[in-house]
Amino acid sequence: MRTNKFLGRDWIDAEMDYSKEEWETLIDVALDLKRRHALGADHTEILKNKTLFTMFFNQSLRTRSTFAAGIQQLGGFHVDLEPGKTYTPARKGYEIPYQTERISDVARMLNRVGDAIAIRMYGPPAQWIYGFANATMKEFAEFAEIPIINMECDKYHPTQALADLITIKEKFGAFKGIKLTMSWAYSGSIEKPRAVPQSVILASTLMGMDVTLAHPEGFDLDPEVIESCKRNAKATDGSFKITNNFDEGFKGAHVVYPKSWGAKSCFNYTDKSGKITEKQDHVKAEKVNTANKNWCTTEKQMKLTDKHGIYMHCLPADRSQEVMDEVIDGPHSVVIDEAENRLHAHKAIMAMIMGGRL
Ligand code: CP
Repeated sequence: MRTNKFLGRDWIDAEMDYSKEEWETLIDVALDLKRRHALGADHTEILKNKTLFTMFFNQSLRTRSTFAAGIQQLGGFHVDLEPGKTYTPARKGYEIPYQTERISDVARMLNRVGDAIAIRMYGPPAQWIYGFANATMKEFAEFAEIPIINMECDKYHPTQALADLITIKEKFGAFKGIKLTMSWAYSGSIEKPRAVPQSVILASTLMGMDVTLAHPEGFDLDPEVIESCKRNAKATDGSFKITNNFDEGFKGAHVVYPKSWGAKSCFNYTDKSGKITEKQDHVKAEKVNTANKNWCTTEKQMKLTDKHGIYMHCLPADRSQEVMDEVIDGPHSVVIDEAENRLHAHKAIMAMIMGGRL
């Protein structure tokens, strides 16, 4: 009989596929590993000689460094397969001779050699087609028995959401009664994925928090994600609401998470056959973006929050656009704790899905 029901599972749409209790277990494991690591414990038996393959189709500081450090601290190895230097893995129907290799072949080959494959993909490598990167990860999962880990796709960033929950647990001790606002923020860059806001609102409603999503018109998130948040809030006796007012999101919040994401018009949308049904419209995206330059977090804005209110951001932050230095470097900011917790979150995920006992 299995005592570790996490073993061998993918971590792709984790906000949907893992239960509230399973997220709580991962938070406990991460905090336990964090405490014992601080006391100098040796954890190298947990994933001794296991191999993690990483594939970054996009840039990364936090995710790359913390997965690499994390697998090493657990006794395993990290092999970075740079997509441009290997034959770039491509979905069936998207192949280019001698430049790409079909995912079914890549996944089945790595499956024979290592113990998990972690992938980051969104934006240009996914042609800004909303859902393309998520489907790419699922194609890997179809052909590899070893776990596939989503290190951020165009829909979700579940490893970030786990680190965020760990940080909130450390700061407030619990989730119930905590008011969290995920807010859009202005950035000079119009092309950004929706992965962080979608994962944060899903994970925080799953934990029963009182969640507000704040954004200007034109920055709506995926309707399926919104429906899931409403279902989560109902099931956990939490709450979920949406506002188009920046100040309203901040009023009385314990946690504010102001972060830019792309306008609805910055993505291409396809039907089930892959045919583009709605094209990216940069002019429209730029227009709604520049119309909302005032969505920048200042000290005055932070004064609207609860007196113990904290400022969160996944980083990298666009300073003087999304947030002023006085806030991100100020007393409310927990961004470096949050970034450190990526390490402990990733160790917990890897330990549970790649290691443990049957
Ligand atoms: N927050 C986050 O995923 O950071 P990186 O892009 O640096 O990995």
